[in-house]
Amino acid sequence: MDYQLTEEHLMIRKAARDFAVNELLPGVIERDEKQIFPKEQIKMLGELGFLGMMVSPKYGGAGLDTISYVIAMEEISKIDASASVVMSVNNSLVCWGLETFGTEEQKQKYLVPLAKGEVIGAFLLSEPEAGSDATSQRTTAEDKGDYYLLNGTKNWITNGNSASTYLVIAQTHPEKGSKGINAFIVEKDSPGVTIGPKENKLGIRGSDTHSIMFQDVKVPKENRIGEDGFGFKFAMKTLAGGRIGIASQALGIASGAYELALKYSRERKAFGKEISQHQAIQFKLADMATKIEASRLLCLKAAWEKDHHLDYTLSGSMAKVFASETAMWVTTEAVQVHGGYGYVKEYHVERLMRDAKITQIYEGTSEVQRIVIARSILA
Ligand code: CAA
Repeated sequence: MDYQLTEEHLMIRKAARDFAVNELLPGVIERDEKQIFPKEQIKMLGELGFLGMMVSPKYGGAGLDTISYVIAMEEISKIDASASVVMSVNNSLVCWGLETFGTEEQKQKYLVPLAKGEVIGAFLLSEPEAGSDATSQRTTAEDKGDYYLLNGTKNWITNGNSASTYLVIAQTHPEKGSKGINAFIVEKDSPGVTIGPKENKLGIRGSDTHSIMFQDVKVPKENRIGEDGFGFKFAMKTLAGGRIGIASQALGIASGAYELALKYSRERKAFGKEISQHQAIQFKLADMATKIEASRLLCLKAAWEKDHHLDYTLSGSMAKVFASETAMWVTTEAVQVHGGYGYVKEYHVERLMRDAKITQIYEGTSEVQRIVIARSILA
């Protein structure tokens, strides 16, 4: 593994950083407070190629590697994790799943507009009773010949209302367990699709999280992804890459909070000197920097393995569990460094602390990541 980033990587970092500072920072506090989806900013991210970063140019994507994606996710997440989760779901779960396993017709019809950022997508796996236990799908897709009939409810769906294209996981043959599950492309406007109210969340409040209900929704047979029964493996393989995206989001949240804490520690004076000159603060900053660097290396290693067509399931889960726990710890310490100021919105760190929590929950909780890691090392 080469630790040197290329000129292209450095340009991507600068482009993502400039976008985050110029377009996302203004209004980020208000969007968080009022739960406003960053619609205009997401459109611009699409135009810049950040919503289909790893998709081949043949399908409207930017044709970049996963390292570039990690770098961009870190920069965007430093400023606005509500925007970066949209980017992560669209890139890793929706575009990657379609490009890797979709038919040519599915790619032309659905992937191209998603990769160009003309529309966004959502990944519908979680259910009221199937979060970590993803095989316990209650949503059913009954085979009716030339179409499937979809019934059920999906929960906590990122981009639930903003997405046009849903990738839905559902049970077709309950007696077959995980081998009876299928994945489908469902258009949001299909008759029988109902969108529940927006969730009022602790963090990533600008993102658009809803329950989605399906009542007798007809899904054309050609919208099934892969062979009959491939749906669970489709979800697991897709999520393995998604975890690199969320690990990078956690990395960005942590490094954003650290940069703010570092800056504040050089400005704030207490007991006759800048607080950065007190060892109590120096130790915090040193630990933050070390854990962030370790998280970054884990993210880059997983990305490098993915780019080299190696198995990245283990490294992706390691990156996610470590980076998300680092994000929670670093953001909490960043609030502490800021003292009372850290507890108010204008200083941004309290938002980053609230945003950090979700990275330990979605795309597989920290407990799920440990299951994946333990299975891998014990195999
Ligand atoms: N790649 C390929 N195949 C895989 C796989 C992978 N990474 N992981 C599992 N499989 C296969 C297994 O090999 C097995 O196949 P066989 O039967 O042929 O051997 C099959 O899938 C079933 O696997 P398990 O027996 O391991 O399944 P399990 O029920 O024990 O569950 C789990 C394993 C790891 C806990 C899994 O259920 C899981 O990852 N749960 C978490 C789900 C999750 O991440 N949800 C997030 C929702 S999406 C989201 O949050 C998006 C968003 O909005 C931001």
